[in-house]
Amino acid sequence: MKSSESTSNCQLTPASVPAKITVLGATGSIGLNTLEIVRQFPQKFQIEALSCRNSIEILVEQIKEFKPRLACVDNSKQARELRDAFHNDGSGSETEFVWGVEGLMQISSAPEVDLVVAGIVGAAGLKPTFSAVEAGKTVAVANKEPLVMAGELFVQTAKKTGAKILPTDSEHNAIFQALHNEPVERVARLILTASGGPFRDRSLAEFEQITLAEALDHPNWEMGQKISIDSATMMNKGLEIIEAHWLFNAPVENIDVVLHRESIIHSMVEFVDGSFLAQMGLPDMKVPIAYCLGWPERLPMKIPRLDPLSMNTLHFEKIDPQRYPCLNPAIEAAKQGGAAPAVLNGANETVVSAFLSEEIRFVEIAKIITAVMQSLKEATMQADLPDYLREICTLEDAEQADQWGQEQAGNMLEQIN
Ligand SMILES: NC(=O)c1ccc[n+]([C@@H]2O[C@H](COP(=O)([O-])OP(=O)(O)OC[C@H]3O[C@@H](n4cnc5c(N)ncnc54)[C@H](OP(=O)(O)O)[C@@H]3O)[C@@H](O)[C@H]2O)c1
Repeated sequence: MKSSESTSNCQLTPASVPAKITVLGATGSIGLNTLEIVRQFPQKFQIEALSCRNSIEILVEQIKEFKPRLACVDNSKQARELRDAFHNDGSGSETEFVWGVEGLMQISSAPEVDLVVAGIVGAAGLKPTFSAVEAGKTVAVANKEPLVMAGELFVQTAKKTGAKILPTDSEHNAIFQALHNEPVERVARLILTASGGPFRDRSLAEFEQITLAEALDHPNWEMGQKISIDSATMMNKGLEIIEAHWLFNAPVENIDVVLHRESIIHSMVEFVDGSFLAQMGLPDMKVPIAYCLGWPERLPMKIPRLDPLSMNTLHFEKIDPQRYPCLNPAIEAAKQGGAAPAVLNGANETVVSAFLSEEIRFVEIAKIITAVMQSLKEATMQADLPDYLREICTLEDAEQADQWGQEQAGNMLEQIN
């Protein structure tokens, strides 16, 4: 491990109980789970702000129930219509409607907000999550893509502003719990577990025929569409390696992945003395989210519990790179650093979106991503390489590198179609 004072950029100093919460992406899988927890603890949490992009009907119900002071939607027309609808329905809602990226940044950094749950999917969460960190908030980060694109900026900014980044992704939350702020020198290895997704037992000969519905059908977790596809390709684990590298100040070489089909052990830490600490539980995102909402306390959750007697065997297997050809380009990007992770992210979001709209086949996802990463390698040999492809110094660099990855992937999609 790199020498530094702590294994974690998440400082374990006691925080005041987070009272007022902004939920970015309130209508998605992370957002809905967050609101279920808030519902169980009305005395502990108050919803200050909610956001969505298209799921207006769900947001309307959430506003009626949680009465946030602010709600953010995609555009000014939606905001105007919602304002008029709530004004005319006699409910007396005081909710103010804002919109777009500016609106998301406003609800992330408002002075009244104590804790922000980053539950937007993809690069769209970059600016709002960063705003929360800049404003020194406690930020429960599920939205991994911004950390992939600009991890160093997040960590440096959190150090400056005192923001606390709480890892909410189940694997990172498991590591966060297991590390318990042990100094970095005591850690030998972080081991991320991967369920293997829906195709862990599919014959490789049948991969050409994989359908969208099959790829979305995760065996262990219920999640949004993009992360479900990332889990099927195992790009998700690649993004998580990059995320873990920044969150825990761990060299990429010391982060391993093992296939663990039961999703009971959510990740492990191997310490230098040969001890392993793992965090276990049923696969339920409410557990890591609740850990972040309650942190540094634990919330007495009413959820189904793991029965140790039901666990006859837990399996751990090596990852087969042929089955998961997205993993190696992601590990390469993690090792390369600089702009490579942001380029990888942009390419991945573009091809996953193309697969979700059934423009390409499942097997083409990895082929395009590999080709984009190869074109980045070639571009880095050129003298006229733009600065944003050398190093990520600003959020704009991260956005431009991501955009470059999107464009390269877009060009390759055009050649296929
Ligand atoms: N789901 C999980 O169990 C899980 C576990 C670990 C980590 N994560 C991470 O958490 C993040 C969210 O995942 P999810 O599964 O909750 O996704 P999801 O179900 O697709 O929800 C995404 C949320 O973000 C909103 N959104 C989407 N695009 C947006 C945009 N361009 N601008 C503003 N808002 C936008 C959506 O609004 P609409 O509903 O209006 O579209 C929705 O509220 C991802 O980064 C994922 O990798 C998720």
